[in-house]
Amino acid sequence: MCGITAISATKEALPFLLQGLEKLEYRGYDSAGITTIENHRLFTKKAKGRLQNLKDLLKNESVTGHVGIGHTRWATHGVPSNLNSHPHTNNADTISLVHNGIIENYRELKDILILQGYHFQSETDSEVVVHLMDYYYNKTHNLQAALQKVISRIEGSYALCIVSTIDPDKVYIAKKDSPLVIGKTDNASVAASDIPAILDYTKDVYFLNDYEIAILDKGSVAFFDKDGHSISKELTTIPYDNEAAKKGGYDTFMLKEIHEQPHAIAETLRGRVEGTDRIVLPELNNMKDQFKTFNKAYFVACGTAYHACLSGANILERLTKIPTFTQAASEFRYCDPIIDEKTLCIFVSQSGETADTMAALRLAKEKGCTTIAIANVLGSSISREADHTIYTCAGPEIAVASTKAYTTQLIVLLLLAMYIAQALGYENEHYKRIIEGIASLPERINNILKDEKLFENYAQYLKDLKDAYYIGRGLDYASVLEGALKLKEVSYVHADAYIAGELKHGPIALIEPGSLVIAVATQPNIAAKTISNIQETIARGANVILFTIDGQEVGNVKETYILPKVDPILQSVLVAIPLQLIAYYAAGIKGCDVDKPRNLAKSVTVE
Ligand code: M6R
Repeated sequence: MCGITAISATKEALPFLLQGLEKLEYRGYDSAGITTIENHRLFTKKAKGRLQNLKDLLKNESVTGHVGIGHTRWATHGVPSNLNSHPHTNNADTISLVHNGIIENYRELKDILILQGYHFQSETDSEVVVHLMDYYYNKTHNLQAALQKVISRIEGSYALCIVSTIDPDKVYIAKKDSPLVIGKTDNASVAASDIPAILDYTKDVYFLNDYEIAILDKGSVAFFDKDGHSISKELTTIPYDNEAAKKGGYDTFMLKEIHEQPHAIAETLRGRVEGTDRIVLPELNNMKDQFKTFNKAYFVACGTAYHACLSGANILERLTKIPTFTQAASEFRYCDPIIDEKTLCIFVSQSGETADTMAALRLAKEKGCTTIAIANVLGSSISREADHTIYTCAGPEIAVASTKAYTTQLIVLLLLAMYIAQALGYENEHYKRIIEGIASLPERINNILKDEKLFENYAQYLKDLKDAYYIGRGLDYASVLEGALKLKEVSYVHADAYIAGELKHGPIALIEPGSLVIAVATQPNIAAKTISNIQETIARGANVILFTIDGQEVGNVKETYILPKVDPILQSVLVAIPLQLIAYYAAGIKGCDVDKPRNLAKSVTVE
């Protein structure tokens, strides 16, 4: 997704703009650009491809302006190209703008502006905004008033940062449904799409709400509502620094984040398990009496977070007897879900900015549901809009492929299910066993990580393969869906996950000598059934790697890994680790860029 940086300072703007864009590279992009204001003129440079291309362009330039905006573009409207990259400027070259999001009514606006004599250079939806700014500036002779008019006309999502030679010291900012954070030091005011881009400058930040306007002016920031009334905003201090966002000695962020899981899980559990029999979630204190009013629960998310939901929903239903449904956020809005004030809706998102998940959350609120967000990013949009938020405490996740965010989501979903069970009076011996098991998870994962070499060797089975098959049942099915997604996204090996019992209803036709089947059988009540399905694939020549529990071993499989003995409900957390490492090492064998897989973005802020 696009990344934005902006600064108004008493010193040169370019170093901030470029370092910020570098920190936002994880969002995925295909071109980059900057504008600074130099001697009352706009200085704009853009380059298709990596940020380094832009840096090379700027190498021999003297860029001294103190005010500027920067952008990394992830193409939505128009191919990746120099012309389509941001910033976009008006025809008089006096206003320059960067945009993240999608302007949904851009065609209609473009037609109107063309009739007014505006010339368009790009195929983007974003360019309409700069011409509209120009149009309204010519009417109002005031940039803030023009921006207010612009946001009353555009539909869709946007984070906008605008500079102009008309008011050369300032950056004008507005946002709706796209993330933007603003920071301030004594001599600089800065803005960016995400916190890591500004952390080297300041930890004191403001979060802009939808339809609000901010004006940066060399160390000060003024905030206004959409009608231009001045508003005050609270400063938040970010509790971590950029060290947390660096690779910490590992070759890649993905490997670092895989290894951080024992710590991330311990942090996520901190203060939430009391003694051996109580879950404490102060975030939900005022909901306790409400749980008995729900007649169903919906779990909604995208990608990896959706897989976490599949496990979470299964566990909630088992522990609380509340019927649960899981839906991909991109489908939720369009499937006319039967939800009302008796429905509990749980939205899970690492970034807290995923457009589909946000849209689903808004629909649930419209229908009167009670909403709980599970998010990793502090102050993210989802946490501001949901009725209640429980944070995973995974720390910044930089690699595009989600690892520690996934396992900490599983932990929070488990805590939530147990908390509700507790509120409904369902605690029993099983409940206590789960609590004991949860506390042991960081240590157990540490032990699994000691077997890393083994998983690296398992990845060798994928060396010459283009496909892999993952199978499991029940909770293990959610685990294999996530394992297969991990393999696809980082190694580009086509991987499909099947309910093991469904194999014989079709997919088994694909199995031939040399096919690789990765099987997960950790649930004692159904492991034997999965094992029969494994035998069916072996009979057709498949090589099988099996993750299972003591007592469920199978002859004739190529590799068996016995997972530590914990309550079956907790196995999804443990088996995630080897599946992540297999994907990671398979990507290494195939020479893929694991941290920034092709075509993917860390934060998907368009539908
Ligand atoms: O930030 P979110 O958790 O809402 O993101 C959802 C998905 O886009 C994300 O999990 C995606 O599937 C990852 N690339 C998976 O590794």
